[in-house]
Amino acid sequence: MTHKICLLPGDGIGPEVIDCAEQVLRALPLDLEFIHAEIGFSAYARLGTPLPESTLEEIRLSSTTLFGAVTTPPAIPNFFSPVVRMRQSLELFANIRPCHSITHSSSRPNIDLIIVRENTEGLYSGIERIEQDGNRAVTERVITRKGSDRIIRKAFDLARQANRKSIHVVHKANILRQTCGLFRSVAFEVAKEYPDITMQEMLVDTCAMELVRAPEQFEVIVTTNLFGDILSDEACMFVGGLGVAASGNIGADAAVFEPVHGSAPTLVGTGRANPVATFLAAAMMLDYLNESESAERLRNAVNDCIANGESASDLGGSLTTSQVTERVINRL
Ligand code: NAI
Ligand code: MG
Repeated sequence: MTHKICLLPGDGIGPEVIDCAEQVLRALPLDLEFIHAEIGFSAYARLGTPLPESTLEEIRLSSTTLFGAVTTPPAIPNFFSPVVRMRQSLELFANIRPCHSITHSSSRPNIDLIIVRENTEGLYSGIERIEQDGNRAVTERVITRKGSDRIIRKAFDLARQANRKSIHVVHKANILRQTCGLFRSVAFEVAKEYPDITMQEMLVDTCAMELVRAPEQFEVIVTTNLFGDILSDEACMFVGGLGVAASGNIGADAAVFEPVHGSAPTLVGTGRANPVATFLAAAMMLDYLNESESAERLRNAVNDCIANGESASDLGGSLTTSQVTERVINRL
């Protein structure tokens, strides 16, 4: 079966790592068709918008999408985050970030955690205003029953699929009594339908601390948008860091996979960008396409390279972006 894959290179190191991922995907025994679409500051400079409608259309028409990174410069009038807009426009409501220990000295052992972050509402709902002649700024934090229900269900379903026995629901309902209060109460309702999985609640500040103290205690964390953004960046540092951290944005009808890192402007053209985060995002994408054998093959090739010291400088290795890519392809 042919899978049509939309590639969104974006800005900075995005085009470099997406090009490497395309080479790696082409080395697998799969029937893949690739199309490229524009996103980010480069698209804004050329077309006047960082997320052209044609890009959204290409994503909708594809089986799935692999995205590099964008540069989001602050303080440009009419500029918006195309990543946040893409997640909202396509209702990619679940942001999934696996954090697994890797065979490398920088990684802590025994970590096998999936962070499930709500991806469309909360503090990133995009409702902001300036009041009192610029002396007061307000952002609204929107939490809905529908949004909470679908993300909490997603977390429980993932936990079941991945054979996990526990879920931590992370919130701050002691202070944010309405918004986190709703999220929390929906979690307790949904949990009743999953008696095989134990749900525990944890306040977000405690969770931030516990992640540093004993990350191996967590199997699945489900939380709201901003909390999930911060906790998942924190957690990825225990298992190799941004050079290897991958994520998926999953909705009912579309999915976009991406490395967690941004456009890393200072690395552009230096050969120091680690493409592995994008390879692992590509592996998540293959799982989504039900090509789990190829996904596993790709993950094994990446892990073997890392264990053997064949890595980029962020993991203490001496290989360039394209050399890492060659080594992974050789192992495939
Ligand atoms: P960043 O993730 O680009 O870089 C953070 C640090 O990690 C830097 O030291 C960078 O050199 C390093 N790094 C990032 N990717 C790496 C890789 N593949 N291999 C080795 N080292 C790597 O985040 P930063 O610097 O805060 O933001 C830069 C730009 O990226 C900004 O315009 C920001 O808005 C954007 N950004 C975009 C994201 C996205 O497209 N999803 C996510 C985060 C930031
Ligand atoms: Mg982030």
